[in-house]
Amino acid sequence: MRILGIETSCDETGIAIYDDEKGLLAHQLYSQVKLHADYGGVVPELASRDHSRKIIPLIRQTLAEANCSSDDIDGVAYTAGPGLVGALLVGASVARSLAYAWGKPAVAVHHMEGHLLAPMLEEHKPDFPFLALLVSGGHTQMVRVDGIGRYEVMGESIDDAAGEAFDKTAKLLGLDYPGGPRLSKLAEKGDSSRFTFPRPMTTKPGLDFSFSGLKTSAANTIRAESNDDQTRADIARAFEDAVVDTLAIKLKRALKITGLKRLVVAGGVSANRHLREQLELLMKKRGGEVFYPRLEFCADNGAMIAYAGMQRLKANQTVGLEISATPRWPMDELPPV
Ligand code: KG4
Ligand code: ZN
Repeated sequence: MRILGIETSCDETGIAIYDDEKGLLAHQLYSQVKLHADYGGVVPELASRDHSRKIIPLIRQTLAEANCSSDDIDGVAYTAGPGLVGALLVGASVARSLAYAWGKPAVAVHHMEGHLLAPMLEEHKPDFPFLALLVSGGHTQMVRVDGIGRYEVMGESIDDAAGEAFDKTAKLLGLDYPGGPRLSKLAEKGDSSRFTFPRPMTTKPGLDFSFSGLKTSAANTIRAESNDDQTRADIARAFEDAVVDTLAIKLKRALKITGLKRLVVAGGVSANRHLREQLELLMKKRGGEVFYPRLEFCADNGAMIAYAGMQRLKANQTVGLEISATPRWPMDELPPV
């Protein structure tokens, strides 16, 4: 069976074709980063318009790359949520129209399930059950995963997501959007002993996160200190250390509660080198293992949507013809497969 996957939840148009026997056949990604850079963040209306412009040519290109025609496709999966409603509706309209025209079923995919299952596209993939840390621009969640669609959200951010905190702090440091990777690069030159920011919500029990206060700590330090390159690098370092430590402290707790030995880390922030190093150390000490998607599939992409869509298609979890999106969609509402 073959499925076409379409991702348009934010500022990336991602298209892929996944075959349940041969694996990933083709994938294409168009990033709108340049379009939004002048505004310092994603402008939803511009995002929707750009998805509309790019989606059909990208689908054509992906079909050609996989040497497929519409006859070879058994279903069309698309990101139905969570995400920007206008952007989601572009993907939903195209996916459901294609499914109708081709006489194939459509599959509505949860964006975070896509991230969570992205490591399954690799040769070395985790068995169930595992603990997943999802760290993206819109979400920070710790999820116990017992199978596909068997998710228990154990903790999540009560305010800014980890990626969002990275981006906002980067902006305060004068870095261009998207600031997360830029801040991380700057932090490499920073001295971690100069500033120390709090590890929010780690002194209280519980598994939820809060990152908006960290951004305030960084803002106050930026205001109080001189604006030279070394100081900016030191602040970036203190910020990154605080986020990574906070995530690691909460993960340790969740691993202890669940007794799990396998950890999946996915979403845009899972590309962070410092985070990877710390989590690898943590899992090694516990005799466990960390699994990631390949770097290009850490951030938004069509491949993860095609993979998640395939699991749902095989379970006959398809949707009707009405074009709709689900901008807010709790992950534990998903049905098991
Ligand atoms: O998963 P993703 O592509 O989009 C969402 O679903 O939100 O994640 C994007 C987020 C952005 O906030 C970006 O700054 C952050 O991931 N990010 C990073 C790094 N690479 C991407 N944050 C920290 N360090 C990185 N190396
Ligand atoms: Zn994402």
